[in-house]
Amino acid sequence: MYRIAPSILSADFARLGEEITRVVASGADWIHFDVMDNHYVPNLTIGPLVCEAIRPVTQAPIDVHLMVKPVDRIIPDFARAGADVITFHPEASEHIDRSLGLIRDSGCRAGLVFNPATPLHYMDHVMDKLDVVLLMSVNPGFGGQKFIPETLSKLRAARDRIDAYAAKSGRRILLEIDGGVKVDNIAEIARAGADTFVAGSAVFGAGRDGDPNRYDSVIGAL
Ligand code: DX5
Ligand code: ZN
Repeated sequence: MYRIAPSILSADFARLGEEITRVVASGADWIHFDVMDNHYVPNLTIGPLVCEAIRPVTQAPIDVHLMVKPVDRIIPDFARAGADVITFHPEASEHIDRSLGLIRDSGCRAGLVFNPATPLHYMDHVMDKLDVVLLMSVNPGFGGQKFIPETLSKLRAARDRIDAYAAKSGRRILLEIDGGVKVDNIAEIARAGADTFVAGSAVFGAGRDGDPNRYDSVIGAL
């Protein structure tokens, strides 16, 4: 089963509630929520207040992607604000196992995010605490960048690890991809092993010409 997670980073923030309602009505499965702190990444976006504000707008799981350092002290705030999934970058946490535990203890699903050059071995000793593995296919910080093709072989390697773990444990960890996902490359990305697809500019960019129904056609095509 595949999941589409539109990133609201590319939405019209003046009409955020409507944008979310519209993409979910068009078939979005999750809402991807990019949190940037102008420290771990060179951009500044949205925090728990906005998460809390959109929580009543949709039943769809809110997938919080933390690009912040430090990680731990913001986790409870997002859990209280209604996040369902919280992922973070291992380089931004002093204690990866502890951060994953904090997320799960707060009732959310937990995940690690791998930058294009971050090795997959960060997941090795924490598989039991992972619900999601998120591979970045661009360097984090901005929407609208180009998919880095080397990510495809990394996806295959992550798929192998996740499948080997599932065979042993019976637990299925989701494999999510984030950055540069478009209608014309998503099939190839799916073949490489991803099951959950973040798409920001591909989805919200399509509505910019004033025709919100284009969300349907893009999400349908993804
Ligand atoms: C980048 C963010 C992505 C971004 C994806 O740092 O994590 O979620 O919004 O946007 P597109 O799909 O435009 O690459
Ligand atoms: Zn993201």
